[in-house]
Amino acid sequence: STAIVRIVSELRSIVAAWRREGLRIAVVPTMGALHEGHLSLVQAAQAKADRVIVTLFVNPKQFNNADDLAAYPRTEHDDAAKLASVGAHILYAPDAADMYPQGFATTVSVSVVSEGLCGTFRPGHFDGVATVVTKLLLQTGADLAFFGEKDFQQLQVVRRLVRDLDIAVEIVAGPTVREADGLAMSSRNARLSLTERDIAPRLAEILGQTAKQLNSGQSVDRALTDGREAIIEAGFSKVEYLDLRADSDLASIIRLDRPARLLVAAWLGQTRLIDNLQVALP
Ligand code: PAJ
Repeated sequence: STAIVRIVSELRSIVAAWRREGLRIAVVPTMGALHEGHLSLVQAAQAKADRVIVTLFVNPKQFNNADDLAAYPRTEHDDAAKLASVGAHILYAPDAADMYPQGFATTVSVSVVSEGLCGTFRPGHFDGVATVVTKLLLQTGADLAFFGEKDFQQLQVVRRLVRDLDIAVEIVAGPTVREADGLAMSSRNARLSLTERDIAPRLAEILGQTAKQLNSGQSVDRALTDGREAIIEAGFSKVEYLDLRADSDLASIIRLDRPARLLVAAWLGQTRLIDNLQVALP
């Protein structure tokens, strides 16, 4: 069964004992409300490590909207059962008062890759992510840390901070897990009405169509304009961005002259959805 640990000193002594046995340790950071996307990362971690720590912390510092934080699903009991069924070793679920005690004054801020895309529309979000991920990596001392491509910009931010701060961990990316109709799994999908749930998979479909247009020689400008229009026509209320970036570092590109990635954020009623798709060279 999966042990629940809340105190960092307790976590450290378990990890130290594992280290003495020479075991490889992986961490999968999450905010809970676990679905198959999260569990696929846990399974990937188990394939590469001897011990798997899943962290569950709804990080207040990365929510730029108080309502979004309050509405975030909290299902620790169910999460623990799911983790036990896939054989995770530890669920580390610290309290906010222990993660951010009185007087906490440090922010990890990653420039360049945090700018643009979600960084434009969620001010402070990636500082919150970078700060908490740094803490979780240092608290667990894991050899490997697993992140989903679903949050592609977040993955790049984490890769950058690990390199820049010389944290001795290997970052491993897992592919986006989707519902049968293509909708990327997300804890926020539960907020969609039935009508919205019917519209939601169009986002992934339009990414696919846009990639196809780019591959058949359509200009980037034209393909993106058509894509944004299609998202609104599908019934989304607002497109925050639909953009094409370099796959390796999210640099802006104006032509499909290297492996690229389409990234999108759009509102469907009160729910903000994000997705992304790799675009190979034609
Ligand atoms: P959360 O949204 O709970 O996601 C935890 C991890 O699961 C992230 O690495 C995310 O990319 C991955 N994930 C989510 N949906 C996925 C899907 N459909 N397919 C594959 N992977 C998926 O991302 C966060 O939490 C937080 O920002 C965190 C990194 C824990 C820092 O607080």
